[in-house]
Amino acid sequence: MKTALITGATSGIGMEFARAYAAKGYRLLVTGRREDRLKQLQEELDVPVEYYIFDLGKKKECFALLDALKDETIDVFINNAGFGLAGSFVETDLEREISMVKLNDIAMHILFKGILQRMVAVDSGSILNVASSAGLLPGGPYMATYYATKAYVTSLTRAVAVELREKKSHVRVHALCPGPVDTEFNANADVVFALKGISAKDCVKAAIKGMDKRGVIIVPNFTMKLAVIAGYILPRSLAVKITGHQQKKKLAS
Ligand SMILES: NC(=O)c1ccc[n+]([C@@H]2O[C@H](COP(=O)([O-])OP(=O)(O)OC[C@H]3O[C@@H](n4cnc5c(N)ncnc54)[C@H](OP(=O)(O)O)[C@@H]3O)[C@@H](O)[C@H]2O)c1
Repeated sequence: MKTALITGATSGIGMEFARAYAAKGYRLLVTGRREDRLKQLQEELDVPVEYYIFDLGKKKECFALLDALKDETIDVFINNAGFGLAGSFVETDLEREISMVKLNDIAMHILFKGILQRMVAVDSGSILNVASSAGLLPGGPYMATYYATKAYVTSLTRAVAVELREKKSHVRVHALCPGPVDTEFNANADVVFALKGISAKDCVKAAIKGMDKRGVIIVPNFTMKLAVIAGYILPRSLAVKITGHQQKKKLAS
C-alpha cells in the first residue's frame, strides 16, 4: 500500500487531497493543529489514517514531524499548510506576517528538503508544494507579503526540479498555483474573492492530473492561467498595478 503525507489536512485543499488519495487506496499521514478535524477524517475514510498534531509555524515542530516520520516510506508528499493576510503593507500586523513567512516558507522549506532527501535516497516519490498563482505574478499590492511568500515556493520548486532532472532522478517535484479556491483561506486572510473561486475538489483533481503529466508548475483555474500568461507578457510594473487593483477589491470592508 502506498503512503501519502499531507500537511494542513484539517480543511480546504489539504482535506480534499486526503479524500482523493484515500480514494486511490493510499494510506494517509495527515497533519494540522485541530485534532477533532483529523479524528473526523480518520473516521470518514476507509483507509488507514495516522495523524500528527504539530504547529508547523515553529521550526522545532517541523523537525519533530520529520523525526516522527523517520521510519516511513512516503510515496507522495503534499506540502500544503499555509495562510494569507491582506491589507496595506504599512498597516498589516508584523507578528502575523512573520508567522506567515515561518509557515509558508520556512516550514515548507524544512519539510520539502527533509522528505526530498529521503525520496532521493530511494530514487522514488513525488512532492507537491502548494504555492499559489500569487507566486507566479511579479507582486501583489495589498497582499504583498503573501505574494512574496508564494514566489519563494515557486522559485524553489522550479530550481529543484531542474537539479533533479539533471541528476536523472525519478523523484518529481511540483508547485500547485491555484487562483481563488473556496476554503477557509478567505476568512483567515480577511479577504473576499474578486473572482469566482473553484471548489477544493476541482483544484485537487486538476493538481493530480498535472502531477500525472509531470508538470512542474500546475495552474488549475482557467482564468488564472490567462492572468499568469498576461503577467509574463505585460511590463512587470503594469502587471503589479493590475494585480493590486484586483487585490484591493478583495479587502473585506
Ligand atoms: N484558498 C485559496 O484561494 C488558495 C489559493 C492559492 C493557494 N492556496 C494555498 O493552499 C494552501 C491550503 O490553503 P486552503 O485554501 O486549503 O486554506 P485553509 O482551508 O485555511 O487550510 C489551511 C490548512 O493549513 C493548516 N495550518 C495553518 N496554520 C498552520 C500551522 N501553524 N501549523 C500547521 N498547520 C497549519 C490548517 O490546519 P490547522 O488550522 O488545523 O492547523 C489547515 O489545514 C495554503 O498554502 C494556501 O496558501 C489557497
